[in-house]
Amino acid sequence: MARRVASAILVLHGPNLNLLGTREPAVYGRATLAEVNRLVQRHAESRGARAVCRQSNHEGELVDWIQAAAREGFRGIVFNPGALSHYSLALRDAVASVRVPVVEVHLSNIHAREEFRHRSVVAAAAVGQISGFGPGSYLLGVDALLGTSPAPGGRRPAARRRP
Ligand code: DQA
Repeated sequence: MARRVASAILVLHGPNLNLLGTREPAVYGRATLAEVNRLVQRHAESRGARAVCRQSNHEGELVDWIQAAAREGFRGIVFNPGALSHYSLALRDAVASVRVPVVEVHLSNIHAREEFRHRSVVAAAAVGQISGFGPGSYLLGVDALLGTSPAPGGRRPAARRRP
């Protein structure tokens, strides 16, 4: 039981990502959220981990899940905050407040799009950001977490700890 919990990763999708598959397919592709989740779960399993995927259109619910992640036994979070990346200080603070490492991911390359998407206020509190690889961004996020995150109760990666 303890071993299973130690290798569990939480995958969080923010607003509008429930519409994947039909939402601006030229930008986000044709894979549905369920398909992306299956890909992520299979990839995690191939790496000896377990991915639990959740989506919410509500900032507060995402904050609650981030705060609860350690208590729930997750060793890290792969997080696509959607548009909230660009302005949610509440999510930024939630990520900065927890010991569980967070990797921010985006399907599209936010730096190659409209200027308002270039900045993520969440990114500075995350271990790092992966952007532009479609669903592959989530898989790279899982690999990044498994490569860097400590066991539950451990410290965040040294380079990203805030004063
Ligand atoms: C996104 C990029 C955001 O700018 C946008 O608001 C999204 C999706 C991405 O995965 O590329 O909802 O996070």
